[in-house]
Amino acid sequence: MIPRVAILISGGGSNMVRLVEAMQAEGFATPVLVASNDAAASGLDRAAKLGVPTAAIDHRPFGRDRAAFEAELLKPILAAAPDVLCLAGFMRVLTPEFVGRFAGRMLNIHPSLLPKYPGLHTHQRALDAGDTEAGCTVHEVTPVLDDGPILGQARVAIEPGDSADTLAARVLVQEHRLYPAVLKRFASGERTPLLLG
Ligand code: GAR
Repeated sequence: MIPRVAILISGGGSNMVRLVEAMQAEGFATPVLVASNDAAASGLDRAAKLGVPTAAIDHRPFGRDRAAFEAELLKPILAAAPDVLCLAGFMRVLTPEFVGRFAGRMLNIHPSLLPKYPGLHTHQRALDAGDTEAGCTVHEVTPVLDDGPILGQARVAIEPGDSADTLAARVLVQEHRLYPAVLKRFASGERTPLLLG
């Protein structure tokens, strides 16, 4: 069975584009939906140009009521009937109830070598700590933020003079290598971590 994949984004969606392009080129999965919490996310246009249905549910009218936002977000997702849900720069924290619906089939990419630096400002935190390497992680999503079994990591050397921006740009290049490779393995049932240098 070729798995159906929905992708959640909040911004430019460069990881989403790489996932969709890899699925379309290699056929290991079918992209069935790209959804965003922001109708202005430029990634939605990029998804539409790639021929993938899109949906936007603005989280702001729901205030702190995450469950109400997620109830709306779920509608297009359930209609698309995905087997796998990929978070790709989706910047909303999901409730345990939402995560539980997709237990064992929701992936996220995070711009650090987890378990280091869950949350925000990962690159600055790596620089502030004097780390010599940084990187990115794809993991299964569990109710704990940026936790869950690690499915792949790519490492990036921190260079003298790096800023958070220069480091983020080099890590993003590796994110684009890592996420499609991990999704392809995941689609085939492979769960052992993929470690890229
Ligand atoms: C990526 O660097 C991703 O790892 C990060 O947001 C960026 C999205 O870029 N995700 C997180 O920080 C999640 N906590 P993109 O929209 O171009 O893929």
